[in-house]
Amino acid sequence: VTLEVAVAGELNLDLILYGLPASLQQEREHLASDMVLTLGSSSAIVAHNLAALGTKTGFCSLAGDDAFGRLALARLQEAGVDVSRVRQRAEIATGLTVILQLPGGRRILTYPGAMQAMSLADLDLDYLATARHFHLSSFFLHRALRPHLSDLFRRMRAAGLTTSLDTNDDPEDRWGEDLAQTLRHVDVFLPNEREACRAAGVPDLEAAVERLAAYIPLVIVKRGPHGALARRGRETVAAPAASAPVVDPVGAGDSFNAGFLHRWLQGADLRDCLAFANRVAAHSTTKPGGTEAFRGGCSL
Ligand SMILES: Nc1ncnc2c1ncn2[C@@H]1O[C@H](COP(=O)(O)OP(=O)(O)OP(=O)(O)O)[C@@H](O)[C@H]1O
Ligand SMILES: [Mg+2]
Repeated sequence: VTLEVAVAGELNLDLILYGLPASLQQEREHLASDMVLTLGSSSAIVAHNLAALGTKTGFCSLAGDDAFGRLALARLQEAGVDVSRVRQRAEIATGLTVILQLPGGRRILTYPGAMQAMSLADLDLDYLATARHFHLSSFFLHRALRPHLSDLFRRMRAAGLTTSLDTNDDPEDRWGEDLAQTLRHVDVFLPNEREACRAAGVPDLEAAVERLAAYIPLVIVKRGPHGALARRGRETVAAPAASAPVVDPVGAGDSFNAGFLHRWLQGADLRDCLAFANRVAAHSTTKPGGTEAFRGGCSL
C-alpha cells in the first residue's frame, strides 16, 4: 500500500446515552431513550474520516483482543483504513468512553485501557515512515508513549514526512515542557481555543497564536460555533462555522482535523482547507458520535 497519511494513537469505543433525566439519583434506575455504541477516540476518528474522505490512511495502535477491539477495528476497516499494523494483546482491555447526554450538559467517563499501555515498541516506525504525512491525537492520554513522543515526531520529520498534532485536553492541566519539545517537530498544530492558550502558556488567544506561530509553520485554532482560524507566519485566515442540524458534537474537532488534512495534502489554499474542515466538522455533528456520519463514505 502507498499511504498518504499514517496515524498513530489511541483506539477505543464511545457508548453514548441520550434522553436521560436532568438529575441522576443514587440507587435509582434511570432510562435512556436512545443508545449508540460507536468508534471513539480522537486518533481513530481522524483516521476513519480521512479514509472516508478518500485519503489513503494507515493506523498504528494497540487494542485488546476483545469484542470492543474487534468492533473498533471493523469500523476502521469498513472505512478503508489499513489496520494491518494494529496490535491486539490478550492481557489488556480495549478502552471505553461513556458519554451521558444530560439536558444540563454532557458527562464523559473514560476507562483508558489499552491506550495507556501502548508503547513505542507497539508502533511499526518503518511502516509509519512510508507515508507522506504523520498525525497523532491526544498527547496527554498516551501514558507509556508520551516520553517518546517528541522523538517520534522528530523521526517522522527526519524521514521526510510532514507532521500534525492535536493534543486535546490535558486531564491534569499541566501542559508540560515535553509538549513544547514535541511542537518543535510539528508542521500543523490543531488545538481548540483553550488548548492553544494552555499550550502557549498565555491566557489571551491572539498572544497565544503569536507565540505558537513563531516556531510552528501552521497553527490552526478550532473555535466551536465560531469556526476556525489559521496562522502561517504573519498571515492570518479566519473561516466561520458551517451550520448543520446538531445531534451531538462528539468528534467534531477530530472531523475538522480530517477535513483540514485531506484538503491540505491535496495542496489547497488555506481558506479552502478551513472552509472544508468546518463543513466536515458540521457534517460530523449531524449523526451520533464522530464517525457515524461518515460510514459508507462521504461526498462533501
Ligand atoms: N455548534 C456548532 N455549529 C457548527 N459547527 C460547529 C459547532 N461546534 C463545533 N463546530 C465545528 O467543529 C469544529 C471543532 O469544534 P471545537 O472547536 O469544539 O473543537 P474541539 O474542542 O477540538 O472538539 P472535540 O471536542 O471534538 O475535541 C469547529 O471548528 C467547527 O467547525
Ligand atoms: Mg479536540
